[in-house]
Amino acid sequence: MKSVQNVTILGSTGTIGVNTLNVIAQHPDKFRVVALTGNAQIDRLFEQCQQFEPEFAVVLDSAGAEKLHARIRQAGLQTEVLFGIDAMERVSSLPQVDSVMAAIVGAAGLRPALVAAKAGKRIMLANKETLVMSGNIFMEAVRHSGATLLPIDSEHNAIFQAMPGNYAGDLAHSGIKRILLTASGGPFRKIPLTELENVTPEQACAHPNWVMGRKISVDSATMMNKGLEVIEAHWLFNAPADLIQVVIHPQSVIHSMVEYVDGSVIAQLGNPDMRTPIAYALGFPERIDAGVSPLDLFKIGRLDFEEPDFVRFPCLRLAFQALRTGGTSPAVLNAANEIAVAAFLDGNLPFKSIPVLIEFVLEQITSQSVTVLEDVLRADAQARERASEWISMHTAVRV
Ligand SMILES: NC(=O)c1ccc[n+]([C@@H]2O[C@H](COP(=O)([O-])OP(=O)(O)OC[C@H]3O[C@@H](n4cnc5c(N)ncnc54)[C@H](OP(=O)(O)O)[C@@H]3O)[C@@H](O)[C@H]2O)c1
Repeated sequence: MKSVQNVTILGSTGTIGVNTLNVIAQHPDKFRVVALTGNAQIDRLFEQCQQFEPEFAVVLDSAGAEKLHARIRQAGLQTEVLFGIDAMERVSSLPQVDSVMAAIVGAAGLRPALVAAKAGKRIMLANKETLVMSGNIFMEAVRHSGATLLPIDSEHNAIFQAMPGNYAGDLAHSGIKRILLTASGGPFRKIPLTELENVTPEQACAHPNWVMGRKISVDSATMMNKGLEVIEAHWLFNAPADLIQVVIHPQSVIHSMVEYVDGSVIAQLGNPDMRTPIAYALGFPERIDAGVSPLDLFKIGRLDFEEPDFVRFPCLRLAFQALRTGGTSPAVLNAANEIAVAAFLDGNLPFKSIPVLIEFVLEQITSQSVTVLEDVLRADAQARERASEWISMHTAVRV
């Protein structure tokens, strides 16, 4: 590792972004922030600029950029303010940048993450949607440029840590039998199925173990998050769907496991705090302090495990189905899910209709093979259109 790493943080105003800056602030001698990006939270982005004095701050639209620019000038900071997705791509591939934290939420994070991969950066990948939508293109870009890819999702980070250090993408060759992907089961693991109809966004976002953004919190409640993670694990570790077992583990202490042919199962444990995988990736291959409280096994007392219930969690079934179908199917699944979750959060779709809508869209759009990014973007746009049509039709019927 270079003595001082220059870092761009995509999505610095979100949960992962804030946690990344928290770890960086603990090691001012090791990291320098080159660029920060946000969308709606201009005040938070300004405060981050004051604290870390990056060269660039990027927001999505010109109105946000104007507001941020005015505050930055008033404060006498030197940070240059840019806007638009092209600018987010630019700060992901600047020559002075060593590492990019890809922590924008949803499909919006795909293009800047891909540009960082093509530029051969060290990529700390939180945006799982990038791999779900365009896994083959992204992994090929990483291979071609020689980029270093470090997973931030706590489960994939755990698997990465439990894999042999020289893992080269061949499970059998490394003596690996299965990947055991743990899941908390979210806030609705135990509530009666009849009550799922009326759950509110607030209930869905109240995760028992993790503090996360609203979209991923709803994904955890439907277990679509785990489904997306199955697809993510497939691409990261070249693992077929049949060799990825989802294990419900309500305490979220074991973050995932790797089972070997000799019967060994290697697990990574820790408190549910995203600063652990973030610090792992920032420091890699060294270990740095994350500021996380030590794991107290006596206080935890017990660790429980259950099989996933595909009736309660149809989104998990749909994600396995999309992975097995392949091609553009996972991108369609992801786009339909993003529209469904946004509608649920806006009060325009009941919780139980989320999987119904996704299944409808998957049936409507035939999977195509993916060779270039445009194949993915076309499927993504089609799926969003179909999903939005379905919602307007059903909202109209309800009115
Ligand atoms: N949170 C977790 O514990 C966790 C764990 C594992 C993986 N992840 C993954 O990490 C990613 C980020 O999750 P999060 O929980 O940090 O989400 P979040 O709190 O909602 O933050 C999302 C970030 O993306 C920015 N953003 C939103 N829409 C954008 C757009 N259209 N263009 C550019 N930027 C946009 C947001 O800006 P503003 O806030 O300024 O609007 C914010 O900086 C997701 O892909 C998630 O699946 C999260």
